[in-house]
Amino acid sequence: MRVGIIGAGGIVQYAHLPGYQRIPGVEVVAICDPVQARAQEMATKNGIPNVFADFRDMLALELDAVSVCVPNAMHAEAAIAALQAGCHVLCEKPMAVSAAEGEKMVAAATKSGKILMMGFNNRFRADTKALKKLIDSGMFGEIYFARSGWIRRRGIPGRGSWFTQKAMAGGGALIDIGVHALDLTLYLMGKPKAVTVMGATYAKFGGDPGRGTGGWGQAVAGGVFDVDDLACAMIRFDNGATMMLEASWASHIEREHMFVNLMGTEAGAQMLSNPAQARVFSERLGVVQDTTITANEAPGNTAHFTEIAEFVSCVREGRAPMSSGDDGVQVMRILDAIYKSAQLGASVDV
Ligand SMILES: NC(=O)c1ccc[n+]([C@@H]2O[C@H](COP(=O)([O-])OP(=O)(O)OC[C@H]3O[C@@H](n4cnc5c(N)ncnc54)[C@H](O)[C@@H]3O)[C@@H](O)[C@H]2O)c1
Repeated sequence: MRVGIIGAGGIVQYAHLPGYQRIPGVEVVAICDPVQARAQEMATKNGIPNVFADFRDMLALELDAVSVCVPNAMHAEAAIAALQAGCHVLCEKPMAVSAAEGEKMVAAATKSGKILMMGFNNRFRADTKALKKLIDSGMFGEIYFARSGWIRRRGIPGRGSWFTQKAMAGGGALIDIGVHALDLTLYLMGKPKAVTVMGATYAKFGGDPGRGTGGWGQAVAGGVFDVDDLACAMIRFDNGATMMLEASWASHIEREHMFVNLMGTEAGAQMLSNPAQARVFSERLGVVQDTTITANEAPGNTAHFTEIAEFVSCVREGRAPMSSGDDGVQVMRILDAIYKSAQLGASVDV
């Protein structure tokens, strides 16, 4: 399986490249990035034979599959070009910067007959898989409420970099890390259809270079910050369920957490990061119980690796991925609605 990678940044180095390299029969044959030195360095270190500045040139190589790992505003263009060139596509989150772009990506995948998989790596966590199995067994009953989020004390991913520019990222903390919590919760709730959203966004740290520094990410002096550093929303679904979502890159809290709380009629669940923990709360014969999930996974089988392995298996077996382009569009519709609601100061239909 001949793979090309579009973008030579952090997530490629951390997840995509090592992931593909671990799977027998998969070869990363090309990488592209307009910052040639970055692509060249990654190619030299990893024995990648072809380096390009423009992904259109790379797509002439007749690749089997492509990872799209560029700033969010370029996902749609790169993914559509790759699909049109006959490649299967694994696209990083968020799918794009709007649902309309996501719909075009799905249409391109349908037309080409190729796979479009979303890089929702949290679905591939061992604790997620364990919890999903329990939920699918029916043990939670009706899940009618969820609270989830990814909140950081200090973690603006490079103030002034593309991450903090609306034109490149489509938004801030919400579209960058809130997207993970949102997708994971929808997935665990059984993908209910969102109907209305009430959202709010803030930028109380990002715009002030003297505040909210630290954590990680490389700041770019004088760079633009015109996105949210905190967002929250209430989402109402057509089955009567609701969820509350929170996302922040910087806020006065104790420490960073990604969390999902699910409340069902028969049981509830709590997934926490930092430290990682998944628990189930229930009641049986009047006895209130807590169960801790011990999710077994072979060492090195991280969520990112498992996601890449799933993509490769889907390509090889001609199977639809479990994090599909359609799932990406549903998430984008909600994100669009949250941003619109925040702007209008009123609830909006999804
Ligand atoms: N799933 C995850 O855990 C996770 C983690 C980090 C980032 N991401 C996502 O991955 C994507 C990339 O993020 P990153 O952290 O690697 O960013 P990054 O800034 O480290 O890297 C992005 C790279 O894309 C390159 N690029 C820009 N335009 C390009 C183009 N037209 N063609 C080819 N390359 C181009 C840049 O020069 C840069 O090297 C983003 O969409 C981000 O949201 C996902």
